[in-house]
Amino acid sequence: MKQRILSGIQPSGALHLGNYIGAIRQWKDLQDSSDAFFCIVDYHAITVPQDPQDLYDNIHQLAAMYVAIGLDPNKVTLFKQSDVSAHTELAWILNCFSHMGELERMTQYKDKKAKHKQRSTVGLFTYPVLMAADILLYQPHLVPVGEDQKQHVELTRNIAERFNQRYGETFRIPDVLHPKQGARIMSLDDPTKKMSKSATTERGYISLIDPPDVVMKKVKRAVTDSGDEVKAVADKPALTNLLTIYTAVTAKSIGEIEQLYVGQGYGRFKKELAEAIIEFLRPIQEKYNELIDHPAELQKILEAGKEKASTVAQITLDDVKTKLGVI
Ligand code: TYM
Repeated sequence: MKQRILSGIQPSGALHLGNYIGAIRQWKDLQDSSDAFFCIVDYHAITVPQDPQDLYDNIHQLAAMYVAIGLDPNKVTLFKQSDVSAHTELAWILNCFSHMGELERMTQYKDKKAKHKQRSTVGLFTYPVLMAADILLYQPHLVPVGEDQKQHVELTRNIAERFNQRYGETFRIPDVLHPKQGARIMSLDDPTKKMSKSATTERGYISLIDPPDVVMKKVKRAVTDSGDEVKAVADKPALTNLLTIYTAVTAKSIGEIEQLYVGQGYGRFKKELAEAIIEFLRPIQEKYNELIDHPAELQKILEAGKEKASTVAQITLDDVKTKLGVI
Protein backbone atom coordinates (compact mmCIF):
# COMPACT_ATOMS: atom_id res chain seq x y z
CA MET A 1 0.00 0.00 0.00
CA LYS A 2 1.27 3.48 -0.89
CA GLN A 3 1.49 5.90 1.99
CA ARG A 4 -1.33 8.39 2.13
CA ILE A 5 -0.65 12.12 2.37
CA LEU A 6 -2.98 15.07 2.78
CA SER A 7 -2.45 18.80 2.81
CA GLY A 8 -4.27 22.01 1.97
CA ILE A 9 -3.96 25.70 1.24
CA GLN A 10 -6.36 28.57 1.80
CA PRO A 11 -7.62 30.31 -1.34
CA SER A 12 -6.71 33.75 -0.11
CA GLY A 13 -4.87 35.19 -3.08
CA ALA A 14 -1.87 34.26 -5.19
CA LEU A 15 0.60 31.84 -3.62
CA HIS A 16 4.04 33.07 -2.65
CA LEU A 17 7.47 31.42 -2.63
CA GLY A 18 7.02 30.49 1.05
CA ASN A 19 3.97 28.37 0.18
CA TYR A 20 5.89 26.70 -2.60
CA ILE A 21 9.10 26.01 -0.68
CA GLY A 22 7.45 25.12 2.63
CA ALA A 23 4.64 22.97 1.29
CA ILE A 24 3.98 22.37 -2.40
CA ARG A 25 7.55 21.45 -3.33
CA GLN A 26 7.22 18.43 -1.02
CA TRP A 27 3.81 17.58 -2.46
CA LYS A 28 5.31 17.45 -5.92
CA ASP A 29 8.15 15.25 -4.77
CA LEU A 30 5.75 12.85 -3.05
CA GLN A 31 3.08 12.59 -5.72
CA ASP A 32 4.52 9.51 -7.44
CA SER A 33 5.25 7.53 -4.30
CA SER A 34 2.05 8.30 -2.38
CA ASP A 35 -1.68 8.34 -2.53
CA ALA A 36 -2.08 12.09 -2.22
CA PHE A 37 -5.03 14.36 -1.42
CA PHE A 38 -4.62 18.13 -1.82
CA CYS A 39 -7.39 20.37 -0.72
CA ILE A 40 -8.44 23.96 -1.41
CA VAL A 41 -9.64 24.90 2.06
CA ASP A 42 -12.29 27.47 1.17
CA TYR A 43 -14.19 27.10 4.46
CA HIS A 44 -11.02 28.06 6.30
CA ALA A 45 -10.77 31.20 4.18
CA ILE A 46 -14.15 32.48 5.43
CA THR A 47 -12.94 32.59 9.03
CA VAL A 48 -12.00 36.16 8.11
CA PRO A 49 -14.15 38.47 5.94
CA GLN A 50 -14.09 37.66 2.20
CA ASP A 51 -15.53 39.31 -0.88
CA PRO A 52 -17.59 36.60 -2.71
CA GLN A 53 -16.26 37.31 -6.18
CA ASP A 54 -12.68 37.42 -4.91
CA LEU A 55 -13.15 34.14 -3.07
CA TYR A 56 -14.66 32.48 -6.13
CA ASP A 57 -11.77 33.68 -8.30
CA ASN A 58 -9.17 32.71 -5.71
CA ILE A 59 -10.52 29.15 -5.52
CA HIS A 60 -10.17 28.69 -9.28
CA GLN A 61 -6.81 30.41 -9.39
CA LEU A 62 -5.52 28.12 -6.66
CA ALA A 63 -6.77 25.07 -8.57
CA ALA A 64 -4.94 26.35 -11.67
CA MET A 65 -1.80 26.97 -9.62
CA TYR A 66 -1.84 23.46 -8.14
CA VAL A 67 -1.73 22.04 -11.66
CA ALA A 68 0.66 24.69 -13.05
CA ILE A 69 3.20 23.92 -10.33
CA GLY A 70 3.26 20.31 -11.43
CA LEU A 71 0.66 18.39 -9.46
CA ASP A 72 -0.78 15.85 -11.86
CA PRO A 73 -4.55 15.47 -11.44
CA ASN A 74 -4.27 11.95 -12.84
CA LYS A 75 -2.01 10.97 -9.97
CA VAL A 76 -3.30 13.03 -7.05
CA THR A 77 -6.74 14.02 -5.82
CA LEU A 78 -7.28 17.79 -6.03
CA PHE A 79 -10.49 18.94 -4.41
CA LYS A 80 -12.36 21.74 -2.72
CA GLN A 81 -13.12 21.40 0.99
CA SER A 82 -16.67 22.75 0.70
CA ASP A 83 -17.45 20.06 -1.92
CA VAL A 84 -17.10 17.31 0.69
CA SER A 85 -19.60 17.88 3.48
CA ALA A 86 -17.94 15.22 5.65
CA HIS A 87 -15.38 17.91 6.59
CA THR A 88 -17.87 20.12 8.38
CA GLU A 89 -19.72 17.13 9.86
CA LEU A 90 -16.57 15.67 11.36
CA ALA A 91 -15.44 19.14 12.46
CA TRP A 92 -18.59 19.46 14.56
CA ILE A 93 -18.00 16.07 16.13
CA LEU A 94 -14.35 16.89 16.85
CA ASN A 95 -15.40 20.22 18.41
CA CYS A 96 -16.96 18.05 21.09
CA PHE A 97 -13.58 16.39 21.69
CA SER A 98 -11.51 19.61 21.76
CA HIS A 99 -10.84 21.69 24.82
CA MET A 100 -11.18 25.47 25.02
CA GLY A 101 -7.73 25.74 26.60
CA GLU A 102 -5.92 23.91 23.84
CA LEU A 103 -7.55 26.04 21.14
CA GLU A 104 -6.81 29.22 23.10
CA ARG A 105 -3.12 28.28 23.01
CA MET A 106 -2.93 28.19 19.19
CA THR A 107 -0.52 30.91 18.12
CA GLN A 108 -2.15 31.46 14.72
CA TYR A 109 -5.48 32.09 16.45
CA LYS A 110 -3.89 34.55 18.87
CA ASP A 111 -2.25 36.43 15.98
CA LYS A 112 -5.36 36.57 13.82
CA LYS A 113 -7.60 37.47 16.76
CA ALA A 114 -5.34 40.41 17.57
CA LYS A 115 -5.59 41.55 13.95
CA HIS A 116 -9.36 41.26 13.63
CA LYS A 117 -10.12 42.47 17.17
CA GLN A 118 -13.88 42.78 17.78
CA ARG A 119 -14.64 41.03 14.49
CA SER A 120 -12.87 37.86 15.57
CA THR A 121 -15.30 34.98 15.00
CA VAL A 122 -16.05 31.58 16.52
CA GLY A 123 -14.96 30.14 13.16
CA LEU A 124 -11.52 31.62 13.67
CA PHE A 125 -11.38 30.00 17.10
CA THR A 126 -12.37 26.53 15.90
CA TYR A 127 -10.33 26.80 12.68
CA PRO A 128 -7.81 24.16 13.88
CA VAL A 129 -10.63 21.68 14.55
CA LEU A 130 -11.82 21.96 10.95
CA MET A 131 -8.22 21.39 9.93
CA ALA A 132 -8.11 18.29 12.15
CA ALA A 133 -11.23 17.03 10.36
CA ASP A 134 -9.64 17.74 6.94
CA ILE A 135 -6.72 15.57 7.92
CA LEU A 136 -8.27 12.74 9.93
CA LEU A 137 -11.00 11.94 7.38
CA TYR A 138 -8.34 10.71 4.94
CA GLN A 139 -6.31 8.62 7.44
CA PRO A 140 -3.01 10.04 6.13
CA HIS A 141 0.42 8.86 7.28
CA LEU A 142 1.95 12.28 6.59
CA VAL A 143 0.86 15.91 6.48
CA PRO A 144 3.40 17.94 4.46
CA VAL A 145 3.23 21.58 5.61
CA GLY A 146 5.43 24.53 6.51
CA GLU A 147 6.57 25.04 10.08
CA ASP A 148 3.75 27.45 10.96
CA GLN A 149 1.24 24.57 10.75
CA LYS A 150 3.13 22.27 13.13
CA GLN A 151 1.08 23.27 16.16
CA HIS A 152 -2.16 22.55 14.29
CA VAL A 153 -0.98 19.07 13.29
CA GLU A 154 0.03 18.37 16.91
CA LEU A 155 -3.44 19.38 18.04
CA THR A 156 -4.90 17.07 15.38
CA ARG A 157 -2.88 14.19 16.80
CA ASN A 158 -4.07 14.96 20.33
CA ILE A 159 -7.73 15.10 19.31
CA ALA A 160 -7.37 11.83 17.35
CA GLU A 161 -5.67 10.08 20.27
CA ARG A 162 -8.39 11.26 22.63
CA PHE A 163 -11.11 9.90 20.34
CA ASN A 164 -9.26 6.61 19.78
CA GLN A 165 -8.79 6.13 23.51
CA ARG A 166 -12.49 6.47 24.15
CA TYR A 167 -13.92 4.63 21.14
CA GLY A 168 -11.10 2.33 20.00
CA GLU A 169 -8.85 2.64 16.90
CA THR A 170 -10.61 5.03 14.57
CA PHE A 171 -8.10 7.56 13.26
CA ARG A 172 -4.55 7.01 12.06
CA ILE A 173 -2.23 9.36 14.00
CA PRO A 174 -0.50 11.37 11.26
CA ASP A 175 3.05 12.71 11.31
CA VAL A 176 3.90 16.22 10.24
CA LEU A 177 6.42 16.52 7.39
CA HIS A 178 8.53 19.65 6.95
CA PRO A 179 11.10 20.20 4.20
CA LYS A 180 14.74 19.85 5.31
CA GLN A 181 15.35 23.42 4.17
CA GLY A 182 12.78 26.17 3.89
CA ALA A 183 10.09 25.08 6.38
CA ARG A 184 9.90 28.75 7.31
CA ILE A 185 10.74 31.22 4.54
CA MET A 186 11.15 34.70 5.92
CA SER A 187 9.94 38.05 4.65
CA LEU A 188 12.26 39.83 2.21
CA ASP A 189 11.89 43.13 4.04
CA ASP A 190 12.13 41.72 7.57
CA PRO A 191 13.93 38.41 8.10
CA THR A 192 12.51 38.11 11.63
CA LYS A 193 8.98 37.64 10.22
CA LYS A 194 7.73 34.79 8.04
CA MET A 195 6.96 35.47 4.40
CA SER A 196 3.23 36.08 4.28
CA LYS A 197 0.82 38.09 2.22
CA SER A 198 -1.01 39.46 5.20
CA ALA A 199 1.82 40.22 7.61
CA THR A 200 4.06 42.31 5.42
CA THR A 201 3.99 44.82 2.60
CA GLU A 202 4.14 43.58 -1.00
CA ARG A 203 7.89 43.98 -0.83
CA GLY A 204 8.07 41.16 1.70
CA TYR A 205 6.94 38.34 -0.55
CA ILE A 206 7.35 37.08 -4.09
CA SER A 207 4.09 35.89 -5.56
CA LEU A 208 4.25 32.97 -7.98
CA ILE A 209 2.56 35.22 -10.53
CA ASP A 210 4.82 38.25 -10.09
CA PRO A 211 6.15 39.40 -13.48
CA PRO A 212 9.95 39.39 -14.02
CA ASP A 213 10.46 43.12 -13.42
CA VAL A 214 8.62 42.92 -10.09
CA VAL A 215 10.69 39.90 -9.00
CA MET A 216 13.90 41.73 -9.91
CA LYS A 217 12.83 44.83 -7.99
CA LYS A 218 11.77 42.91 -4.88
CA VAL A 219 14.96 40.86 -4.72
CA LYS A 220 17.17 43.89 -5.29
CA ARG A 221 15.39 45.69 -2.47
CA ALA A 222 15.52 42.71 -0.10
CA VAL A 223 17.09 43.42 3.26
CA THR A 224 20.62 42.01 3.70
CA ASP A 225 22.89 41.61 6.73
CA SER A 226 25.92 43.71 7.58
CA GLY A 227 29.15 42.68 5.85
CA ASP A 228 29.35 41.45 2.27
CA GLU A 229 29.80 37.70 2.57
CA VAL A 230 27.20 35.45 0.94
CA LYS A 231 26.89 32.83 3.69
CA ALA A 232 24.11 30.90 5.40
CA VAL A 233 25.11 31.32 9.04
CA ALA A 234 23.17 32.05 12.22
CA ASP A 235 24.18 35.72 12.42
CA LYS A 236 23.13 36.33 8.79
CA PRO A 237 19.39 35.59 8.86
CA ALA A 238 18.60 37.64 5.72
CA LEU A 239 21.32 35.95 3.64
CA THR A 240 20.39 32.53 5.00
CA ASN A 241 16.83 33.15 3.84
CA LEU A 242 17.91 34.32 0.37
CA LEU A 243 20.20 31.31 0.01
CA THR A 244 17.38 28.98 1.05
CA ILE A 245 15.22 30.49 -1.68
CA TYR A 246 18.09 30.24 -4.20
CA THR A 247 18.65 26.54 -3.51
CA ALA A 248 14.91 25.82 -3.72
CA VAL A 249 14.53 27.34 -7.19
CA THR A 250 17.69 25.80 -8.69
CA ALA A 251 19.38 22.42 -8.59
CA LYS A 252 22.35 23.93 -6.66
CA SER A 253 23.12 23.25 -2.99
CA ILE A 254 23.66 26.12 -0.56
CA GLY A 255 27.37 25.25 -0.38
CA GLU A 256 27.71 25.46 -4.17
CA ILE A 257 25.92 28.80 -4.27
CA GLU A 258 28.13 30.22 -1.48
CA GLN A 259 31.20 29.17 -3.49
CA LEU A 260 29.93 31.02 -6.58
CA TYR A 261 29.87 34.34 -4.75
CA VAL A 262 33.06 34.26 -2.66
CA GLY A 263 34.45 37.79 -2.67
CA GLN A 264 31.65 39.05 -4.96
CA GLY A 265 29.53 41.05 -2.52
CA TYR A 266 25.75 41.13 -2.53
CA GLY A 267 25.03 42.91 -5.84
CA ARG A 268 25.76 40.09 -8.27
CA PHE A 269 24.29 37.52 -5.89
CA LYS A 270 20.95 39.33 -5.72
CA LYS A 271 20.76 39.91 -9.46
CA GLU A 272 21.43 36.25 -10.21
CA LEU A 273 19.05 35.10 -7.49
CA ALA A 274 16.32 37.22 -9.10
CA GLU A 275 17.16 35.72 -12.51
CA ALA A 276 16.97 32.21 -11.06
CA ILE A 277 13.55 32.93 -9.55
CA ILE A 278 12.32 34.41 -12.84
CA GLU A 279 13.50 31.31 -14.74
CA PHE A 280 11.88 29.05 -12.18
CA LEU A 281 8.56 30.91 -12.39
CA ARG A 282 8.47 31.20 -16.18
CA PRO A 283 7.06 27.72 -17.02
CA ILE A 284 4.73 27.82 -14.00
CA GLN A 285 3.28 31.16 -15.14
CA GLU A 286 2.91 29.97 -18.74
CA LYS A 287 0.99 26.90 -17.67
CA TYR A 288 -1.04 28.92 -15.16
CA ASN A 289 -2.11 31.46 -17.80
CA GLU A 290 -3.13 28.66 -20.12
CA LEU A 291 -5.22 26.92 -17.44
CA ILE A 292 -6.91 30.04 -16.16
CA ASP A 293 -8.37 30.50 -19.66
CA HIS A 294 -9.96 27.03 -19.47
CA PRO A 295 -12.28 27.13 -16.45
CA ALA A 296 -14.24 24.10 -17.72
CA GLU A 297 -11.11 21.96 -17.49
CA LEU A 298 -10.45 23.12 -13.93
CA GLN A 299 -14.05 22.41 -13.05
CA LYS A 300 -13.67 18.87 -14.39
CA ILE A 301 -10.58 18.30 -12.23
CA LEU A 302 -12.41 19.55 -9.12
CA GLU A 303 -15.48 17.41 -9.93
CA ALA A 304 -13.35 14.27 -10.23
CA GLY A 305 -11.56 15.22 -6.99
CA LYS A 306 -14.88 15.70 -5.23
CA GLU A 307 -16.03 12.18 -6.18
CA LYS A 308 -12.84 10.51 -5.05
CA ALA A 309 -12.43 12.53 -1.83
CA SER A 310 -16.09 12.08 -0.84
CA THR A 311 -15.85 8.31 -1.12
CA VAL A 312 -12.74 8.10 1.06
CA ALA A 313 -13.97 10.65 3.62
CA GLN A 314 -17.36 9.00 4.00
CA ILE A 315 -15.80 5.72 5.15
CA THR A 316 -14.14 7.46 8.12
CA LEU A 317 -17.21 9.56 8.89
CA ASP A 318 -19.51 6.49 8.91
CA ASP A 319 -17.13 4.69 11.27
CA VAL A 320 -17.06 7.70 13.62
CA LYS A 321 -20.85 8.04 13.57
CA THR A 322 -21.32 4.34 14.23
CA LYS A 323 -18.96 4.51 17.21
CA LEU A 324 -20.76 7.56 18.58
CA GLY A 325 -24.10 5.79 18.27
CA VAL A 326 -25.65 8.23 15.81
CA ILE A 327 -25.92 5.76 12.89
P1 TYM B 1 -1.80 28.41 4.45
O1 TYM B 1 -2.84 28.50 3.40
O2 TYM B 1 -1.55 29.60 5.31
O3 TYM B 1 -0.40 28.00 3.83
C1 TYM B 1 -0.27 26.92 2.93
C2 TYM B 1 1.03 26.18 3.16
O4 TYM B 1 2.16 27.04 2.99
C3 TYM B 1 3.00 26.97 4.13
N1 TYM B 1 3.63 28.29 4.33
C4 TYM B 1 4.94 28.48 4.47
N2 TYM B 1 5.98 27.62 4.47
C5 TYM B 1 7.22 28.15 4.61
N3 TYM B 1 7.46 29.48 4.79
C6 TYM B 1 6.45 30.37 4.81
N4 TYM B 1 6.69 31.67 4.97
C7 TYM B 1 5.12 29.88 4.64
N5 TYM B 1 3.89 30.48 4.61
C8 TYM B 1 2.99 29.48 4.41
C9 TYM B 1 2.08 26.60 5.27
O5 TYM B 1 2.78 26.03 6.35
C10 TYM B 1 1.14 25.62 4.59
O6 TYM B 1 1.71 24.33 4.56
N6 TYM B 1 -4.22 25.89 8.03
C11 TYM B 1 -3.52 25.76 6.77
C12 TYM B 1 -4.37 25.15 5.67
C13 TYM B 1 -5.00 23.84 5.99
C14 TYM B 1 -4.34 22.57 6.01
C15 TYM B 1 -5.39 21.63 6.30
C16 TYM B 1 -3.03 22.17 5.83
C17 TYM B 1 -6.32 23.63 6.25
N7 TYM B 1 -6.56 22.30 6.43
C18 TYM B 1 -5.08 20.26 6.40
C19 TYM B 1 -2.76 20.80 5.93
C20 TYM B 1 -3.76 19.86 6.22
C21 TYM B 1 -3.09 27.14 6.31
O7 TYM B 1 -3.65 28.12 6.67
O8 TYM B 1 -2.10 27.13 5.37
